[in-house]
Amino acid sequence: MSTRVIRHIGELITNDRTVGDGTAMGRLSDAALVVDEHRVLWCGRDRDAPAADEVIDANGAAVVPGFVDSHTHAVFAGERSDEFEARMAGVAYDGGGIWRTVEATRAATDEELRAQSTHRMRELRTGGVTTVEIKSGYELTVAGEQRLLEVAGEFSDELTLLGAHVVPREFAGDRDAYVALVAGAMTNACAPLARWADVFCDRGAFDLDEARHVLESAARAGLQLRLHANQLTDIGAIGLAVELGCASVDHCTHVGDADLDALASSSTVATLLPGAEFSTRSPYPSARRFLDAGVCVALATDCNPGTSYVTSMALVIALGVREMGLSVDEALWAATRGGARALRRDDVGHLGVGARADLAILDAPRAAHLAYRPGAALVARTFRATREPGERADIEPSRP
Ligand code: NIG
Ligand code: FE
Repeated sequence: MSTRVIRHIGELITNDRTVGDGTAMGRLSDAALVVDEHRVLWCGRDRDAPAADEVIDANGAAVVPGFVDSHTHAVFAGERSDEFEARMAGVAYDGGGIWRTVEATRAATDEELRAQSTHRMRELRTGGVTTVEIKSGYELTVAGEQRLLEVAGEFSDELTLLGAHVVPREFAGDRDAYVALVAGAMTNACAPLARWADVFCDRGAFDLDEARHVLESAARAGLQLRLHANQLTDIGAIGLAVELGCASVDHCTHVGDADLDALASSSTVATLLPGAEFSTRSPYPSARRFLDAGVCVALATDCNPGTSYVTSMALVIALGVREMGLSVDEALWAATRGGARALRRDDVGHLGVGARADLAILDAPRAAHLAYRPGAALVARTFRATREPGERADIEPSRP
């Protein structure tokens, strides 16, 4: 097993309270970090750094935990920039465009789907994402949802069955039959390929009874639960998510005080997706309100062709700070440790000893530049630990 020491780190964010400044950020300056192919072995002051097989000189740059993007729909074919343009000219989003991506995705060969998804994954990874959740939901047949999960499985093991994304056209006259298909044959066929199940529970998508039925079937099939909730309107989806023990409720654009209290006394994380508000020109929810109520908040890209064709967690952090009332530290934590909480993971989202060696070296002396310099490509190198025996640690090359 070879070891690496990253020396001369200007600012190291570990998200480990036992390290450095004693805050949730676990911040150290003039730091060093030692990793092997899998794990963090040591972190501390640079002058105390132990020897290792390889030395990487950070030259005073900041190092942060790799971003945990806990909500994407990144496996699909095609794009819908025309809808974005129409929205910017005043047309409201109602979820209707999902069907266009279903048609494009169904028509794509495996190779086309893989090539387009690989491109997006590369954008995410070079932007510092080391853990990514990927949902199905753009084929809406048993075999098609299996295919999406199989392709997504080439990139991640945080996979989510989202058969209940919209009712497909061929079931337009009989939505009950589609819900039965999702809760039955689709869940059974896809459960071995996925870890999670999700439902788009909102106006124009699936109602509370349908969501409950799909999620309860998924739980019986061994899947853990998450929910698209309160994106377009409040139909009570957050209460359902808390009741069913969902790991995360995602979007939360429209949330009342009672739901905040319910979330605060639950283990359900609120995953906010400012790329969706940006791309649909919707009002941003106040993340400050969530934190003040005691809710655990994650930030994620929601990468999808309709409401948020965003692959930059740095942009998401910047929007979280500028538009949602988060401090820079709170936004960075939400994009790393918060995302890990939303995926019920303790091994990622921080750089304490024993954590996965997933990290990003920035092209900046302080992590605050992620929000301070929006639009700049600030991730110089992404390190992603080996996942499988025999797999090599994945190190994205420095940008030229
Ligand atoms: O998270 N809300 C449902 N699903 C996606 C949108 C998908 C699409 O428009 O293609 C979302 O916003
Ligand atoms: Fe989504």
